[in-house]
Amino acid sequence: MEIIIQASAEAASVVGARIVAKCVREKPGAVIGLATGGTPVALYRELVRMHREEGLDFSGVKTFNLDEYVGLGPAHPASYRHFMEEHLFAHVNVRRENIHIPDGLAADVPASCASYEEAIRAAGGIDVQLLGIGGDGHIGFNEPSSSLVSRTRIKTLTAQTRRDNARFFEAAEDVPFHVVTMGVGTIMEARQVLLLAFGAGKARAVREAVEGPLSAMVPASVLQMHGSAKVLLDEAAAAELSRSEYYRWVYDHKPVWQRF
Ligand code: GLP
Repeated sequence: MEIIIQASAEAASVVGARIVAKCVREKPGAVIGLATGGTPVALYRELVRMHREEGLDFSGVKTFNLDEYVGLGPAHPASYRHFMEEHLFAHVNVRRENIHIPDGLAADVPASCASYEEAIRAAGGIDVQLLGIGGDGHIGFNEPSSSLVSRTRIKTLTAQTRRDNARFFEAAEDVPFHVVTMGVGTIMEARQVLLLAFGAGKARAVREAVEGPLSAMVPASVLQMHGSAKVLLDEAAAAELSRSEYYRWVYDHKPVWQRF
């Protein structure tokens, strides 16, 4: 794992956007895995700026979102489809047919999950997967106790995640109980993973994921087994790490060719 601590969430988001942009520029037809929630908003803002001001071209890019609420259609303001339109898709030249988000309205959920996995395979696999982290250490919507080799499937949210995400809904009871999410195994097959975490509320989950034992009780800890995972943090999210001085040292002494 490469731990990158920046002075602010804004600065860390710019580093994340540069890494995604590098992949988009270098690989025609790059496949990007996308995340939702408050955390990636600034990264998407920077990608939109790069598209407008620097001509970053999304015309060949394929996207796969991590997850979606069961029962919410694209028109629902709290659906992840709606979120992605608002923060990224409406502002860049990604082709509609290249956008993939799990179907929250699928009549046959297992079949829909299997075809999502098949679509990822058919696209050649995910080149860069963006991730946030839940306060309980979840990635995507893989809650604690999720199988570490799981694939795209339906999951039941914890009470804490329903409370955490209530801010995106009109009323707390409107938060669905069920979601469809890429599995931990699906996420682990991405060639590169970028996990972003900002704010003091994420400090414990970050410590457990980065420095704790690998455990299904902290699904993000599985990234310790990924060959190319970067964790982008602001100071507050990094506050509980015991080796933060070393992580900063590594970043400050990166060989020039490895810099972003
Ligand atoms: C949701 C999403 C996750 C996200 C997490 C953290 O549960 N399914 O992908 O990482 O929330 O959200 P936020 O970035 O708003 O803290």
